[in-house]
Amino acid sequence: MKKQVGIEALAIAVPRRYVDIEELARARGVDPAKYTAGLGAKEMAVADPGEDAVALAATAAARLLRTHAVDPAKLGMLVVGTETGVDHSKPVASHVQGLLKLPTSMRVYDAQHACYGGTAGLMAAVEWIASGAAAGRSALVVCSDIARYGLNTAGEPTQGGGAVALLVSEQPDLLAVDVGLNGSCSMDVYDFWRPIGRREAVVDGHYSIKCYTDALSGAYRNWRERALAHEVVRWGSTMPGEQLARILYHVPFCKMARKAHTQLRLCDIEDAPNAPPSTPEAREEKAKSSASYTAQVASSLDLNARVGNVYTASLYLALAGLLNTEGGALAGQRVGLLSYGSGCASEFYSGVVGDKAAKRMATTNVEAVMAKRERVSVEEYERIMRLPYEAPEPLSPEPGEFRLAEIRDHKRHYIQGA
Ligand code: HMG
Repeated sequence: MKKQVGIEALAIAVPRRYVDIEELARARGVDPAKYTAGLGAKEMAVADPGEDAVALAATAAARLLRTHAVDPAKLGMLVVGTETGVDHSKPVASHVQGLLKLPTSMRVYDAQHACYGGTAGLMAAVEWIASGAAAGRSALVVCSDIARYGLNTAGEPTQGGGAVALLVSEQPDLLAVDVGLNGSCSMDVYDFWRPIGRREAVVDGHYSIKCYTDALSGAYRNWRERALAHEVVRWGSTMPGEQLARILYHVPFCKMARKAHTQLRLCDIEDAPNAPPSTPEAREEKAKSSASYTAQVASSLDLNARVGNVYTASLYLALAGLLNTEGGALAGQRVGLLSYGSGCASEFYSGVVGDKAAKRMATTNVEAVMAKRERVSVEEYERIMRLPYEAPEPLSPEPGEFRLAEIRDHKRHYIQGA
């Protein structure tokens, strides 16, 4: 039997505070429906300077190792996907390795390409294991980011933060990746970027949506060509994309997943062999199908709507949300995943949900993590946003969680809640 490789277990970490999105809209003099119906948001995570990409990554990784009783000696690789690292040279992954006291006999590094960095790390881990080079060892891949555009900007309601830690192994209880079917599409574009020294991203918002959907089309068509060749999907009474039980998208804001799904369907509609002639308007209308969106996409978006954009972790937060609610029902079924990172890079891949997904997600207990959060007012959110980056408030971390305590001699010092 061919070796199975994929995600065995996952854990999430989110900032301790969040703001209600309707309250934010009212404070900005915007119709709340623009943020809820127009962008698909409900709440937005608010990270303070003590909750940086290292603290969130270490918290998620420690939670993963603890709750799923992972033996650190069996790990051979640690990759952190992030675009909000804390140093130009020392990777977030080294901090995580030290904070978790992981073995030294590991490959440890960060992967950066905007929101795509996490998927870059995941695929390096999957292919390392599939190649046999891992020799039975597992990999830890952590996606950790803080999405920040600044107060009173168009991007403000699409901020957020958090981390998702993934255990990658030959026992893919959550998702066995269809190794070798991945489709990629990358282009040199200026849609979203963050020049050195800036805390806030610069973004050409509407153009970024077009870059995302263009890249999606390339990556999906590339995957579909391979999936058709391997008879994983086929042209028939249903289109190839419709043969995936669910499709997960990179979620900068929830409405983007709807736009992405329309674009993916349009690729199938336009490319279908022997399709009867139709107008562009009719094809667009068919692509927009609410029934398809409800059946294939909507159930993965609950956590994203409550956290906001988590850059590298957004797609994996959607995976956590989907498996949390439907892990049992989807066992044995194939799902598609679309990763997008501005700049830009995208990858479409597929995988089969494992039989133990529901059991694993019950152990992970994402609801318990979400329930501990505290809602803050818009005034408090604005105060937190204005705090200096180098001087975290002296707050005690929750038991098991990490927090930046201080920066001394340009070195960052973290504490863990007892
Ligand atoms: P905007 O210009 O303020 O909003 O910024 P808008 O005018 O486009 O309105 C947004 C939606 O709300 C529209 O829906 C409106 O119709 C609707 P759509 O037509 O698009 O379906 N709307 C309303 N609905 C109901 N009631 C109302 C109402 N008013 C308007 N009263 C934008 C929106 C997303 C551009 C902005 O928030 C932004 O710049 N966000 C950041 C960029 C971003 O998220 N881009 C996504 C693609 S790029 C990506 O995903 C990569 C990224 O994650 C970074 C990385 O890779 O590292 C960002």
